[in-house]
Amino acid sequence: MVRETRLHPDDLIAPLFVREGIDEPQPIGSLPGQFQHSRASLREEVRQLKDLGVPAVILFGVPEHKDAEGSEAWNPDGVVQLALQDLRDDHGNDLVLIADLCVDEYTDHGHCGVLDDTGQPDNDATLELYEQIAVAQATAGADIVAPSGMMDGQVFAIREALDETGFDDIAVLAYAAKFATALYGPFRDAVDVQIVGGGDRKGYQQDVANAREAMEEIREDIGEGADIVMVKPAMPYLDVIARARAEVDIPIAAYHVSGEYAMVHAAAERGWLDLEAVAFEHTLAIKRAGADLILTYFARLLLEELQ
Ligand code: PBG
Repeated sequence: MVRETRLHPDDLIAPLFVREGIDEPQPIGSLPGQFQHSRASLREEVRQLKDLGVPAVILFGVPEHKDAEGSEAWNPDGVVQLALQDLRDDHGNDLVLIADLCVDEYTDHGHCGVLDDTGQPDNDATLELYEQIAVAQATAGADIVAPSGMMDGQVFAIREALDETGFDDIAVLAYAAKFATALYGPFRDAVDVQIVGGGDRKGYQQDVANAREAMEEIREDIGEGADIVMVKPAMPYLDVIARARAEVDIPIAAYHVSGEYAMVHAAAERGWLDLEAVAFEHTLAIKRAGADLILTYFARLLLEELQ
């Protein structure tokens, strides 16, 4: 009766991977229970999640061919575009389709943009690629595009590109406060990404030490037209989520990322933690801190328990 916070299926967004050129789903070693899906197995997985009550999924693509610009990301026949069409065919308007918008899964160097002479992403040249991806994803049936590359001005550029092509009703979920954390490791296995030369994303993602700067990123993205802002990862940044909740009135999403999920699994496998109990505790804590929407690889487990 006196519980202040309750989890509901509508709080959850399931992150899913779809890989080009495979017939059978491939288990992801560092993310137990998660798969690189084929187009067919993705459809089946989403059907089941939908039956369990998930309101939305977010798709990540693993292309067969990577290149310097990540051109498969905006190919109309690219794997995410085809998967969006499949899911739109299967679910009509009964499921919210979100597409992660970035090039790192598609570039042969693993950075989130096209590189300049110094080997770092060229911010403004990258914005042009993001605009093309947004239009390709919207054309394929995305309801929401979710730019995750942390280039300056990405929300504004994407908003403008969508508006100019008649997609003014497509929403932007901005990865606004995305930290350069050590917790994305398992995800990079999931999408076969190695950053060239052992590099990192500290040039464009947020310093893990900075909460005030994260708030500035959130305010900037809202100013550029974001409909939803995201804090990522979630558990080590509950202070940022709470601060964002106190300051902004648009929906806030939080991403319980691959490393957060993998840690819980690794400990549970050894019998050191109760997987289900910790999954609920983490997710509830993220909601208590102020997130309206939680992206989590635990979505299926939570949904099953919430039935
Ligand atoms: C970039 C992207 C990343 C994640 C989501 N989008 C990885 C990165 O920035 O290196 C990480 C998600 C996770 O760890 O679960 N396209």
